[in-house]
Amino acid sequence: MIELLKNCSNGNDVSTYLVIRDTGFKKIVKIAATPVGMRNLRREVGGWGWYQEMRYPKKEEPICRIAQEGGSFLKIELEFMEGARADCRKGLERNHENIRKAIEHYCEIWPSFPDGTAPLHGDLSLDNMIYNADGVHVIDWEHFHEKGAPWGFDPLYLLFETLFLRIRNGKRPSRAEVAIIADSIGVLNRKQELQSQMIDHPLRFLVEFITVNHRLWCDELPAFQNKFPILTFTADRVSSIDTTIRARLKEGM
Ligand SMILES: Nc1ncnc2c1ncn2[C@@H]1O[C@H](COP(=O)(O)OP(=O)(O)O)[C@@H](O)[C@H]1O
Ligand SMILES: [Mg+2]
Repeated sequence: MIELLKNCSNGNDVSTYLVIRDTGFKKIVKIAATPVGMRNLRREVGGWGWYQEMRYPKKEEPICRIAQEGGSFLKIELEFMEGARADCRKGLERNHENIRKAIEHYCEIWPSFPDGTAPLHGDLSLDNMIYNADGVHVIDWEHFHEKGAPWGFDPLYLLFETLFLRIRNGKRPSRAEVAIIADSIGVLNRKQELQSQMIDHPLRFLVEFITVNHRLWCDELPAFQNKFPILTFTADRVSSIDTTIRARLKEGM
């Protein structure tokens, strides 16, 4: 049986399928037939290669591999990961435990280079995590760069994307949401790898980094603004959210 999980009609260049054999064996297949989609799938194979070494060092078979390749299409296959998915639309508070586990997972396995940069997942959202008895498993490596962003970029993105989904209509972050973000930044900062701007004004840092480096994701900024809704916040709103987080961080110090 083949089930379409995501098709490429929504501005995406990749279709994702779940394949279930009669034996019950499951695998994920992703197919692209555009240059952008093919580039993203090659990144996904590279990202899984990197993650597999960090996360599952004893595993010999590749989790993700190219299955078929032609001049104008690419098909990759992935091991299916069993487990629960978080729902990022439920926001930070109802995902508190999932957020905590994701941040700890990042701190445990993510290296930093001597210049303070680190590998970039590029779409580290709760939608791209699977939770099971073995812990957290990160999927969807289509935006991977081996050396892409300052250490801590991906988890900051995870926090603010989850926040955005609840406050996009002009609402203010609740005290509990601010506390979750500030506490998570505190946990990340234990590694002493965060740049000072990531602590002093984390949301402004994210918005500026993504805007300046948008080619890490895609060439054209308009297409890209849909992908990064936090870019739609006004500068005032960014600054006021950062101020409340900074105040809470100081309380906790
Ligand atoms: N290795 C995997 N194991 C289990 N489910 C997966 C796996 N890879 C993808 N999926 C499922 O397919 C969906 C889409 O895949 P994903 O890699 O996140 O692509 P995208 O979000 O870019 O379309 C995921 O949200 C998840 O439900
Ligand atoms: Mg995804």
